Amino acid sequence: MTSSRPRRTELSSRADIDRLVRVFYERAMVDPLLAPVFEVLAIVGLDEHLVVVGDFWEQILFRTTRYQGAFIPVHRALHGKYDLTPERFERWRVLWHESVDELFTGVDASRAKSKADTMVVALRRATTGA
Ligand code: HEM
Repeated sequence: MTSSRPRRTELSSRADIDRLVRVFYERAMVDPLLAPVFEVLAIVGLDEHLVVVGDFWEQILFRTTRYQGAFIPVHRALHGKYDLTPERFERWRVLWHESVDELFTGVDASRAKSKADTMVVALRRATTGA
């Protein structure tokens, strides 16, 4: 039996991270709960943003030092404008897990999910206090 789903591969390179981030953003940007927040990317520029987010994940998963941003203040500012509710954080988490599971397997795919879970909790506390 062949599956119509492409075979999942081990998450192991920057190219894999870029693919994952792009798939995740394709979903987040049309998600009814998240889209109103991600609309800010029309101003910031999606392509530049995806490079920054790729740098962030490359640092977390493969211990590079490319990411130079400050992601907590960025989300605090977003929360001031758009209200990053616990429901929005949970939707973000679910879409991230779905995107990872659809594309990748392996230790680093699992780490991409567990690290995201930890950061969702930290970021939610840092922004909403909840
Ligand atoms: C409610 C959940 C979330 C929403 C709606 C959201 C939305 C956004 C948006 C719209 C930006 C661009 C802001 C700008 O450039 O002005 C951004 C930046 C970013 N987000 Fe999130 N985000 C969420 C949660 C998370 C989580 C849990 C992580 C990490 C696991 C994350 C990682 C990042 C990173 C690394 C950036 C780039 C920050 C920088 O410019 O240095 N986000 N987010």
